[in-house]
Amino acid sequence: MQRDDLPWWKKATGYQVYPRSFCDSDGDGIGDIPGIISKLDYLAELGIGFIWLSPVYRSPMRDNGYDIADYRDIAPEFGTLDDFDRLVTEARTRDIGIVMDLVVNHTSNEHDWFKKACASREAPEHAFYIWRDPGPDGGPPNDRTAIFGGPAWHWVEAVGQYYFAYFSAHQPDLDWQNPDLRAEIYDMMNWWLDRGIAGFRMDVVSLLGKDVDTDRLEEGPYLHEYLQEMHRQTLAGRDVVSVGESWAVTPRTAPLYCGRDRGELDMVFQFNHVGQGWDETFGKWKPKPFDLVRFKRVLFDWQRALTDDGWNSLFLSNHDLPRQVSVYGDDGRWRVRSAKMLAIVMHLMKGTPFVYQGEEIGMTNVVFERLDQFRDLEIEGRYAEMMAQGLAMEDFLAGANLSGRDNARVPMQWTGGPQAGFTTGTPWIEVNPNHAEINVAADRADPDGVSATYRTLAGLRRRMPVIVQGHFAPVTEDDPRVFAYTRELDGERLAVIANFSAEAIVFQTPDELVGEGECLVANAGQRTAIEARLELAPYEAFALRYR
Ligand code: NOJ
Repeated sequence: MQRDDLPWWKKATGYQVYPRSFCDSDGDGIGDIPGIISKLDYLAELGIGFIWLSPVYRSPMRDNGYDIADYRDIAPEFGTLDDFDRLVTEARTRDIGIVMDLVVNHTSNEHDWFKKACASREAPEHAFYIWRDPGPDGGPPNDRTAIFGGPAWHWVEAVGQYYFAYFSAHQPDLDWQNPDLRAEIYDMMNWWLDRGIAGFRMDVVSLLGKDVDTDRLEEGPYLHEYLQEMHRQTLAGRDVVSVGESWAVTPRTAPLYCGRDRGELDMVFQFNHVGQGWDETFGKWKPKPFDLVRFKRVLFDWQRALTDDGWNSLFLSNHDLPRQVSVYGDDGRWRVRSAKMLAIVMHLMKGTPFVYQGEEIGMTNVVFERLDQFRDLEIEGRYAEMMAQGLAMEDFLAGANLSGRDNARVPMQWTGGPQAGFTTGTPWIEVNPNHAEINVAADRADPDGVSATYRTLAGLRRRMPVIVQGHFAPVTEDDPRVFAYTRELDGERLAVIANFSAEAIVFQTPDELVGEGECLVANAGQRTAIEARLELAPYEAFALRYR
């Protein structure tokens, strides 16, 4: 590949904004688009190349916008279409693209299509959704349950059928087997692309090819046919980025989505590295103790699988996941250092890194003591289920605090002042009390703040082709405390070494890593050499370019 032909999104650092919790400009307690615009200089200074904007469409917000009622309008609490256009323009002048969230596995039950679909079997929109007659016993067609709890099938009297909703009853699934529906979606995508957006992050994309009758939902039989069609009809010939979210994709199936000749997506968000830490039975509600070897194995497998074809996304956080420093680092004594370590290790692998708002200042999980402090519909749904299974309330709260999605959704911590500087009103969800200490103002004022490391990493990526394209080689795969690898391109070679533990350790460096060079980034003092017997401080990480 010609280096100059590299697409912009391989050299860029992505940043996810969760609009509801980012910055509130009008004091209603809910973040909004003018609020995001007011922070563009902050993001530009961080070195961000594009923003993945979680959904801003009109929505009843049962799932904070992942339940869309109108694909061609902005939720009034977030602003107007004019505000959105201004965001795109203002971002562009700072060299930042806006990537929209495309949620087309389902709509809101308040979408006009669904209202018409429920009123009559004759309405064309009826066929936009997945309906089935009752099973032989008069009940639902099968006993599939929904991701957010309860059954996946829901009865509508007026049409005498059940509709399928894999997430919640408020999020009826669209029937992708219907070509008219697909044409509507492509038309809508082009409408946004023509407004100048930089691409799409596609929600649960691996569910689009499902076949409910054979219960093949993830990576179903029609998936790649539809993604190829979508590409032809919308993305082809445009200089945009596409990232598909998939909880099912593996290193083996990834090339089917983002292989060079597939004509589907540029990359996928995979979750194997997240799921490796979950319990086999209770999933994320009962995480396993962190195991570095297991974690590395997953990430290294992904690096290997997409070495020559396809492209990785690099992330540990998003709006569905707990705060990365609380899960993989140390959110107490070593918070700052371990937050930087995670950034160094993730951003220097091969792929496009994504930062989730607040990650760049080392924001941590929040502790909620009462159920009524949570806002996530998943907590609501799971609570009912777990109580029915006899789980104790304190165990449920412990799981929710550890793994719940609200950890990522409490407001961005801008200052140590009232409501963390997020709003002048009452926030829709409580701020984390630790904003007094952890906030953007304090972090930026500190030359050794976490965000300084993120700025350095984004800058290195922009100017060093070896970070973008260099060959990735894992080192010490079985070491339970050290995460290390090299990158190499045209004779230029880097090593990245990190101590994933709270102890000072001595690393017996493999011969191939020993050498001298220039320190590119570090979190515990500069290094100009890698010795055979390398003493690493707790959570120390650095990257060295060999001479
Ligand atoms: C994945 C999104 O990231 C999550 O927030 C949402 O609840 C589900 N898809 C349903 O849209």
